[in-house]
Order: sequence, then structure tokens, then C-alpha cells
Amino acid sequence: MTIEATARAHPNMALVKYWGKRDEQLMLPSTGSLSMTLDEFPTTTTVRLRTDGGPDVLELNGVVAGGDAAARVTRFLDLVRERAGSEARAIVRSRNEVPTGAGLASSASGFAALATAASAVYELPQDTTSRSRLARRGSGSACRSIIDRMAVWHAGTDDESSYAERIDAPELAMVVVVLDSGRKKVSSREAMRLTAATSPFAAAWRESTARTLEDMLAACREGDVTRIGELAEVNALRMHAVIQSTSPSVRYLSGRSLDVFDGIESLRADGIGVWGTADAGPNVVAITRPADAAAVAEALTSHGEVRVVRPGPGARLLEDPADAVPAATAGSEAR
Ligand code: DP6
Repeated sequence: MTIEATARAHPNMALVKYWGKRDEQLMLPSTGSLSMTLDEFPTTTTVRLRTDGGPDVLELNGVVAGGDAAARVTRFLDLVRERAGSEARAIVRSRNEVPTGAGLASSASGFAALATAASAVYELPQDTTSRSRLARRGSGSACRSIIDRMAVWHAGTDDESSYAERIDAPELAMVVVVLDSGRKKVSSREAMRLTAATSPFAAAWRESTARTLEDMLAACREGDVTRIGELAEVNALRMHAVIQSTSPSVRYLSGRSLDVFDGIESLRADGIGVWGTADAGPNVVAITRPADAAAVAEALTSHGEVRVVRPGPGARLLEDPADAVPAATAGSEAR
């Protein structure tokens, strides 16, 4: 029996956003969504089964984690154990190369890597679709990070039918403008609940997103980058509009974020094909063609640190033992 496995996954950036659940227990989204998996900011996770009867432990970036992060991992492992008919606890060591909690979706790469490594050590099915369904239970958007390049997440109606799948799309590049790498004040999960419970526009958001997903799938099939960019920008700004319409209001975009959207608009006025998007945080991501990425990055560099990213790989196991995440050093326990 293998007692240790290591997996790596990358974040994804949604072009049609997931914002709302129809079933929080099963983590079924209220609509489908579509994203590009990035080739930067990976999370590497080693899962080691315990043979000494000790509890689950989460080590995040070399520090033993407690609180919500550890509780979420234990809940996820409980589901894995239930499916595997196992009682074995595990030590989970995870290293993120993306600023945790900054709206760059570290929970997506985190649960995609965890689902992949845990499926190996607990001997669950390791095909892409099974891992995508499983990752979804940890964090919805994680189901898309299982998939390489471009993924559509089928909303589905039950656990079986809700998973992400690869789609063909024209080659894109993204320019990530990092304005703030701190932890966000309201988690996506909490703000999604608040949206469903208090926004008078929640139903309109769901209806428009379902339509946008159909249009986006058509634009991807047709290789129409301009249409993809236009749809993505409008969908992102609609998501932020519905988030701001909660009570109490939640606002992830800052004045500086809006300045970046203005910068993108003026590049467009100059004839460059570029469109903006943003997840649940202030950082803005410019969507463009690979040939224009360097010029876009150059133009946006005055706003913050820029990183050009391209379509990246799906979550996968790393076979070389040298890739395992090392144990936290003594004395690094979080208080
Ligand atoms: C704004 O997947 O982090 O990034 O399912 O509650 O864990 P939970 O939420 P999460 O939400 C991601 C929201 C988003 C949009 C998107 O990635 O589609």
C-alpha cells in the first residue's frame, strides 16, 4: 500500500463566474461556469497516511495550520475516508506559490491538489472526472483546476453530474495585476451565501450567467477571442454588481481595481484586444491574445505587480519523491 502521494495543481481564472450554490452540502453550483487553468502560482500537496493513530494535521507553507483551514481539510478527508472505507488519518503538507486568500483562488489549486493526492493514497478512482467531482466538495472552483487549459463546469443536478470537463478554445493569455496580496475580509463562501440571502438581483444574476455560459461556449467553439473577452468582462462586472448589492454590502473591487479597468478600456480604445476580469478580491486580470500580452503587461505595470500567465496543466501526481513537500520545522506551530 502507498502511504504517501504528492500532487500539483494550478489556480484557474473564470471567464464565466461561479457565484452561488443550489446545494451547499453537495457543493452544487446554481449555474455552470468556465475557466482557464493557469501555468503559474501552483500548489503542491503531499498527503501521508498516519500509521501512529494520530489526528489529521495540515501544514500550510511550513506552518501547522488550525482554525477554519484545518477544519475544512478534515471535513474533506472525512468524505474521502467514507468513500474509501478507511479510518486512516493523514498529514497534509501544502505549499502555495500564490498569495493565500488574495482572490487568486488558492482554494481551487489547494483542493485540486489535495483531491488528486488523497485519491491516490486512499485508493479512490483517479480518472479526471472522479477527481473533479471530489475536488468540488472541497471548494467549488477546485473542480475546474483538475482540468488542463480550458474547462467548463457542468452545474449538474446531483453529485454525479456536477464536474468540470476540458473544452477547446483559442489560445489566450492573461496579465494578472496584483494590487493586494493580503487575506480578503469576507470569504467567497460567506459572500455567496449573503448574495443568495439578501440581494434583490440574485435571480437575475443566475439567469444572465446561464445565458452567458451558452454564448461563451459558442465563442470558444468559434475561436472568437473578441467575443470571449467581451462576455468575460461583462460577466465579471455583473458578479461584482450582485456582490455589492448584498446587505450588508460586500465590495471586493477597490478604487485601484477600477483604475485598472479604466486602463484596460483605454488600451482597447487604442485598438488592443484586452478585457478585464476579477475574482473575489481587488486584483484585476486582463484577458488578451498571446501576441499582445507583453504590451498589455507593460501598459498596466504602473498599477501594480504584473504577471503574464498562459493556459496551464491540470492537477496531476508527481512521481519523484524529491517533489514531496517537506515537514514543517519544529517550533513553527501556528498560535
Ligand atoms: C469569485 O470556489 O472559492 O472565484 O465553493 O465556497 O469554496 P467555495 O467558493 P470558491 O468560489 C470562487 C468564486 C470566484 C468565481 C469563480 O472562480 O468562478
